[in-house]
Order: sequence, then C-alpha cells, then structure tokens
Amino acid sequence: MDLEFIMKKYYITTPIYYVNNPPHIGHAYTTLAADVLARYFRLKKYQVMFLTGTDEHGQKVAQSARDKNTSPQKYTDLISGKYKKIWRHLGIGYDKFIRTTDHQHIKKVQVILQKLYDKKLIYQGEYQGLYCVGCEEYKGKRDLKKGKCPVHKKKPEIIKESCYLFKLSKYQNKLLDLIRNNKFQIKPEARRNEIISFLKNEKLEDVAISRQKSKVSWGIELPFDKSHTTYVWIDALLNYLTAIDWPDDNFKKFWPPDLQLMAKDILRIHSTIWPALLMALDLPLPKKIFAHGFFTVNGHKMSKSLKNIIDPKIVLKDYGSDAIRYFLFREFHFGSDGDFSIDRFQERYRADLANDLGNLVQRVLKMKQKYKVETIKETDQALSGIEKDIEDLAFKNALDKIWDIVMSTNQEINQEEPWNLVKTDSEKLVKLLNKWVKRILVIANALEPLLPETSKNIIKQFQELKPEVLFPKV
Ligand code: MSP
Repeated sequence: MDLEFIMKKYYITTPIYYVNNPPHIGHAYTTLAADVLARYFRLKKYQVMFLTGTDEHGQKVAQSARDKNTSPQKYTDLISGKYKKIWRHLGIGYDKFIRTTDHQHIKKVQVILQKLYDKKLIYQGEYQGLYCVGCEEYKGKRDLKKGKCPVHKKKPEIIKESCYLFKLSKYQNKLLDLIRNNKFQIKPEARRNEIISFLKNEKLEDVAISRQKSKVSWGIELPFDKSHTTYVWIDALLNYLTAIDWPDDNFKKFWPPDLQLMAKDILRIHSTIWPALLMALDLPLPKKIFAHGFFTVNGHKMSKSLKNIIDPKIVLKDYGSDAIRYFLFREFHFGSDGDFSIDRFQERYRADLANDLGNLVQRVLKMKQKYKVETIKETDQALSGIEKDIEDLAFKNALDKIWDIVMSTNQEINQEEPWNLVKTDSEKLVKLLNKWVKRILVIANALEPLLPETSKNIIKQFQELKPEVLFPKV
C-alpha cells in the first residue's frame, strides 16, 4: 500500500519575516513554537510540512538597503542568510524556507494575480490616504495616535496614486459567518472575539494591492500592468501557497494549513485579507490561526534606540538553544504578553535546568552506575496530559507538568535516602532506582519536541536502557 495515503499530514507556517533588520528573539519565539509542533507531529508519524522564510520586497527593505549603501538584492541575501543560520543554531528544523525574491514565488504570484484580475476581483482605481512604511500598511485615521503610527511613532506618508484594488468588501459577511461557525478558527478566544467585533462594527474597504513602480520599484510587477508593483503584504501572504508549489502535487497533499502561527500584530490581516484572497481563489481556508502575545525586554519594547534588542546569537553562545527554548515556553503562557528579563532567564537556567533537572539526571546516573541497576519494565502514565497541552499550544502547562515530576522525584530521592538504603534494604533500593531511571526517561521523552538537545543528551546517558514510548503511532 502507498504509505502517503495512510499518513496524516500537518502543515504549519510562521510569518515570513522582514529583512530590514537581522532576526531577534521575538522572531525566534514564533519559529521555535512552530518547531515544537512540527517535532511533536513528526514523532506522531504525521507527514509534516513546516514552512518559514523571509519577506523581502517593499519600501522598508529597499530603504534599509539604501541606508547601508547596498542593493536590495545583496541586502536581502545577507539578512535572509542570517535568519537561516540562526534557525540552524536554534535547532529549528523547517522543511521549507521561502524567500519572496525566489523566482518560483515571483512567477506564481503573477499567475495568481492574473487569475484574480480575470475574475474581475481586482480592478483599477485610486488610493488616497495614509501609509506607514514601518508597518508597510495603509492606515485609517482611527489607527493613529495624535496623527502618528502608535508602533513606529512616525507620521504616515500621504499617498494619492492610481492603483489596483482587490474586492475585499465583498467578503465581509461570509468571513464573519465562517469565523462564528469556527469553520475558520481563530485562537485564543479573546483574539477571536476582537476580530468578530471588528468585522461586526467596521466596514471592510476594498484594499489596494499595488504601488506605482515609479514610487516603489522593489517589488513584483503586476502581470497586467508593468507600471505597478505588488503591495508587499499581498506578495507576502501568497507565500503560504507558492512555497508548497501551488497548484501542483505537493500543494494538493498539504493544503490547507493545519495551523498558522503569528503574533497579535498581524492577526487582523491574516483574518481578513488572507482568507478573502483564498475565497476569491476558491480555496479552502486554514483550519486554525493562532496569535500569540508580544514580549518586551526588561519591561520595554525592543528597539534600537533603547539598545535592548536581544540577539539570539549572543544568548546561544553562553547558554545553548534549549535554555532559550525552555525560558520562552516556561516563563509565560504562549497566548499572553510577557517580558524577557535577562535576570529571570539566568535564574531559570540555574534553578530549573542546571539544578532541578541536571541534578536529578546526574545523581540517578551515578547511583545506577554505583549500584548496578539493570533494566526497567513497568509503564508510567504520569505525563499523559502533555500531548493535549502541546496540541493546544499550552507549552507552559506541558513544562509545568514535566517539572512537577522532576521536583517530586528529587524530593522522593531526598526522603528515601538511598545512601542509607544501600546498607539496610538493597532490594528496595534497586526497585526505587528502577523507578527513578524510568521516570527520567519518561521526562526525556516528553521533552523531545520542547528541548530536543536536552532530551537527546539524557537518553544518551542512559543509553543501554530503552525509553518508554510516550508518543504512540497514530
Ligand atoms: N513580513 C510580515 C509578515 C508577513 S506574513 C505573510 C511581518 N514581519 S515581521 O518581521 O515584522 O514579523 C512579525 C512577527 O514576528 C510577529 O507576528 C511575531 O510572529 C514575531 N515577533 C516579532 N517581534 C516579536 C515580539 N517582540 N514578541 C513576540 N513576537 C514577535 O510582520
């Protein structure tokens, strides 16, 4: 039988990141979360497609290249390379890394836009209004605070130019129904409610999908009018289709996405323009999109002027990738906002990883060697809840559960005083050691998608013992 037909598939995406600046810990956060899920579903023997990449066109990127006295292509090659490198060092095992300057992507975006134009869902008109280059977004007066973009603290540009527009307004009611009926799931609940109330109370306007080439030349030419380039967000959203070879076999195998991850900053676009484009193309919508929180660093938004941008490279050098993974997923709930404080990071590293887990492994390993424990047999169900936690993106709950076992096993060892038992009741000691070894292996298995290096190291140290299978085949 052809295995592909009986294997379940799992298609997960991250946003594609702008290459105006090198990657920071915020970009790593989303991509690491996707990596946890991709690893988890691979362990469950799903056929996984984990997509990430870089968003390389538009005014903002072109401006950054100009500031560095280089060409946009050279600049995007450089920054995109940095993303790939840091993902490798963080142990992020993506299946596909798309760059929007890839020839394949460019060609397919043009085919898609031509299709929409032929269906009369794109038409020529004029855009008159405001544009924030930092956000690469058209802004309404409501989106501004004292006339400035609240994120970039700058006055948006005033634009009055002819452009092409997509008939977004046509999809308002359909979208609202799909979200209400959970045919298009938005998580967490609070964010879903925000989108529902937005769609109920505001009128969706048709959206500009192009800029005049004379104003923004660093972009994909419209196939039906070469004096325009594609609006960078339209170019970017279509990556989720082009990266898996729309409309060919690979696309047929993986579409629709099972989960699309992002932070709350770009949820609105992903729950309006994105599904509307898919409806316009008669394609099924993603099953679920999840918007996690934003985190600050030492209480402040990361910014160049505050010099508080955390470069994962630096943290990696001193602590390794699992320390970052552990901190980000244990310190705050995935859906909520949080703060990355270096002090908290060091504290958790020392207390939780080095002390609690490190000590547990080392002391049991030493005892096992000293008292010659042979093997393990029984099954321990203690960590069964964590599969659901991971599937619900409740990574903190999963780690809380794992650390409960780490702590209670450490406590048990202290209470049982094995160093005395060796003299008074060696049979009991062997039994206990068997139990502790087995627990450590269950912990190591549970950690596999979350802290893959740590998990591998623990299992290696207990090499001759077969770990329990926590993730059975589906
Ligand atoms: N290029 C667009 C996305 C196009 S997707 C079709 C973009 N790029 S971005 O580089 O600005 O990345 C935004 C994403 O980076 C957020 O949605 C989030 O996934 C991640 N984060 C960036 N900073 C972050 C924090 N400080 N905290 C949490 N996530 C952060 O928008």
